[in-house]
Amino acid sequence: MTARTANDERIGRAGGKVILLGEHAVVYGVPALAVGLERGVVARVGSEWASAHELEIEGWGVVVRPDDGTDLGSAFAALLQASGERIVACPRRVQVHVDLPPGGGVGCSAAIGVAVAQALDGTATADHVMDRATAWERIFHGNPSGIDVSAAANGGCLRFVRGEGITAVHVQRPLHLAIGATGRASSTKVMVEQVAAMHAARPAEVLEIFGAISERVQSAIDAVSQGNLQVLGADMNANHGQLSALGVSTPELDELVSIARGAGALGAKLTGAGGGGCAVALATSEAHAKELVAQWQRAGFDGWTSASAARQTDATRLYPVAVGL
Ligand code: PMV
Repeated sequence: MTARTANDERIGRAGGKVILLGEHAVVYGVPALAVGLERGVVARVGSEWASAHELEIEGWGVVVRPDDGTDLGSAFAALLQASGERIVACPRRVQVHVDLPPGGGVGCSAAIGVAVAQALDGTATADHVMDRATAWERIFHGNPSGIDVSAAANGGCLRFVRGEGITAVHVQRPLHLAIGATGRASSTKVMVEQVAAMHAARPAEVLEIFGAISERVQSAIDAVSQGNLQVLGADMNANHGQLSALGVSTPELDELVSIARGAGALGAKLTGAGGGGCAVALATSEAHAKELVAQWQRAGFDGWTSASAARQTDATRLYPVAVGL
């Protein structure tokens, strides 16, 4: 969403996401199920020209310029380049407020890319924003499936297939989610490469796991649309085991999962690339989700609940996305 304020400032907004099932396998064409988060990113671009393009991430103490040798600078350059000469030729200062943990598996970088692309160009169509944010994401992720950018741009509950795009999933009963953070940032690029190395070394084993993940994703989509949260939770639990078999869980993620299950979560799993980052748990109510977060905090982890997960995707805002395969 792009808006102009009274002083002609332009604002872009995008949300984070949690993958309920299907991360990693989604890179290879298996469907995945994701839910947009209310927490996200706001980007602001003033009307004045700057001496050079600049991107400031407030709160991180970071200011970058295109191609200043940092990953963030390279991503900014890629996004500007994808935006075209009209945008490249008008240097702007972009200020970004981020309310998501970086490297946390909750779509922080994609949300920044979407919000910045929106704020820089009020005339950009939804497809343009997706393309520009995908150019940005490639710098960090190398081989992104596109799920993060799709979820950041659309929100709601989504089925995503690489190269096909997204379909809204009807949420029959509210999903009360708790998100627990290991506090350890991880690199999606490194984790995706790790799975790729396993896939190259032991293809039959990895393809069998992907097949099993695909079945669980379909079961979970049916469960969400029928309001069968027990089945959804069981599918999430199974998916955590499958991701562990792919080697992307860690002792901290396993601990977050085990604390949540011990406190009555219907299901719990790592979410995103793994290797650190966050876990997601399905609670029985909002109060229960808060209790899960409290249990995590007692064990020294940070966490929060997501009230937005029950929001229905507005189907009119959906559009297909094709990212380079
Ligand atoms: O960026 P993360 O940590 O939310 O992970 C994205 C999900 C992966 O399947 C691991 C990668 C991808 O591009 O789909």
